[in-house]
Amino acid sequence: MKLCSAGASLGTIISFSGVFMSIIELKDINFSYGPSEERVIKSLSLSIERGECILLEGPNGSGKSTLFRILNGLSLPDSGTYYFDSRLIDKKYLKSERDAKVFHKEIGYLFQNPDIMLFCASVYDEIGFGPRQMGLDDVEVDKRVRDLLKTFDIEKLADKAPYHLSGGQKKKIAFAAVMALNPKAYILDEPFAGLDRESCEMIGRLIKNLKLMGKTIIIASHDESDIGELADRRLNIVELMQD
Ligand SMILES: Nc1ncnc2c1ncn2[C@@H]1O[C@H](COP(=O)(O)OP(=O)(O)OP(=O)(O)O)[C@@H](O)[C@H]1O
Ligand SMILES: [Mg+2]
Repeated sequence: MKLCSAGASLGTIISFSGVFMSIIELKDINFSYGPSEERVIKSLSLSIERGECILLEGPNGSGKSTLFRILNGLSLPDSGTYYFDSRLIDKKYLKSERDAKVFHKEIGYLFQNPDIMLFCASVYDEIGFGPRQMGLDDVEVDKRVRDLLKTFDIEKLADKAPYHLSGGQKKKIAFAAVMALNPKAYILDEPFAGLDRESCEMIGRLIKNLKLMGKTIIIASHDESDIGELADRRLNIVELMQD
């Protein structure tokens, strides 16, 4: 595993001039699930460069999925700032339907529990949903869906209802649905959990390809052996928090 800290300092230097090199810039983020709840994210700051692959580690309940919700605009921090691709992601930004649509196309989120993501009647429609929302025509949607069914080796599942599939199959469909949008950044919450060895290797190869394409990737995973040489930096969420 290669440890790299030089990128972060470069991003910091350039951000002083007002132009972010980093694609993700979090400063002093605090978050709790309710006014009477304990803070889950405590004064967390983080800078991620374009094209970096980050492995986010931390014990159960340490806030990795919560941080991912913030990165994807599903939860708003109580305080602190979040810039994605030089845009301040706050309540005002996310309230704008046009801005929110652009943001959600650029950042792809694989939930820890894929059940949350799947709602279409068939696997084909599930993978095609995002491209359709983006306004792609039927021919282009069909091409994208067929390519992804092949990539994930799930062509036989095309007409099945996602709801009735196994946990591992659901995870692959959810990942394919994320890739269908061709986002700039991938936030992958436990992408290997529940997958058999062969599927883990396939997902590992896919992530490697995404990295070669210059995508920014943040992975939360408990199983280091699946990450191998993929990660440029390993971060422990507990160490990212100030108090
Ligand atoms: N919707 C919610 N409402 C209230 N508390 C929550 C909610 N979701 C998570 N929490 C709490 O926030 C804390 C952090 O949870 P989170 O799921 O972010 O941890 P995690 O690091 O992803 O854990 P794991 O490794 O098990 O996936 C936990 O104490 C959890 O109980
Ligand atoms: Mg989690």
